[in-house]
Amino acid sequence: MPKLQQLKSLRFMAETALSRQGIRHYKRPEISPVATFKNYPAAPRVVLPRNWTLKEARLSPLLQNRRSRRSFSTEPLSLKSLAYMLWAGQGITASAGNHRLRTSPSAGALYPIETYISAREIDELPAGIYHFNVAEFELELLVPGSHADELALACLNQQFLAQAAAVFIWTSVYRRNACKYGDRGLRYVFTDVGHICQNVLLAAEATGSNGCPVAAFFDDELNQLIGVDGKEESAIYLAGVGARPENKED
Ligand SMILES: Cc1cc2nc3c(=O)[nH]c(=O)nc-3n(C[C@H](O)[C@H](O)[C@H](O)COP(=O)(O)O)c2cc1C
Repeated sequence: MPKLQQLKSLRFMAETALSRQGIRHYKRPEISPVATFKNYPAAPRVVLPRNWTLKEARLSPLLQNRRSRRSFSTEPLSLKSLAYMLWAGQGITASAGNHRLRTSPSAGALYPIETYISAREIDELPAGIYHFNVAEFELELLVPGSHADELALACLNQQFLAQAAAVFIWTSVYRRNACKYGDRGLRYVFTDVGHICQNVLLAAEATGSNGCPVAAFFDDELNQLIGVDGKEESAIYLAGVGARPENKED
C-alpha cells in the first residue's frame, strides 16, 4: 500500500491547489471551448411530461428519509416520476445573461455533466439507452432495448442495477470547464455531479421511489455502452432508481 502522501490523487490535488500567489499569474488554458448543450439531432425523441403533481414535498422529511435503497418493485416507474427526477437534477429554472441556470449549481455555470438514462421498466417509455436533452426537456433514444444486464455487469456485477427501472448515468464533458479552469476543473466536475445526484435522490424520495448512487464501474465498458469516447466525455457516476416495493424499506 502506498503511503498517503504518495497517492497520485493527493499529488493531483496539490498540483491543482490555488494560492493567493498563484492566482495572480493564472492564465486560461489553451483549450478550446465546447457547446454547453449536447443533443443527438437524428435520434427519435420523447417529450418529457411536466405535469407531475406531488404532495407537498417539504425538504426535511426528504432529507431525513433518503437512504440508498437497492431493491425495487416489479411495477414500472412512471414517466412522470422519471421526468421529475430529471428536472430536479438539471432542469432549467432561470436565465442570467447567456447562461441558462438550473436546479443544481455548477462552477462558473459551465455545466460539464451530461445525463444518460438506461430505461428498463418505465411506463410509456420503451426500454433503451437515452440521452437527456436538457435544453428541450426531452429524451433522445440512442439504443433501443433493455441494456440492464450489461449495465449491471459493467458496474462490477452489482445485480440490483439490473432490477432498477432506470439507471442515471452521468458523464463529464471535461472540455466545458477545462477551457476555463484547466486541471483544477476536474475537481468541479465531481462537485457538480454530486449536486445533481443528490437532487435526483431527493426527487426519488419525493416521488416515493427508491434510489442508490453507484461509483464502482469498469470505465471502458460503461463508456462503450452509452457510446462516449472516454476522453472528451466519460462516465463518472450513476444512480439506479425504481418504484418502491411494498412493505420493504431497503
Ligand atoms: C460516491 C459514492 C459511490 C457509491 N457507490 C456505490 C456502489 O457502487 N454501490 C452501492 O451499492 N452503493 C454505493 N454508494 C452508496 C453508499 O454505500 C451509501 O451512500 C452509504 O452506505 C451510506 O448510506 P445512505 O446513502 O443510505 O445514507 C455510493 C455512494 C457514494 C456517495
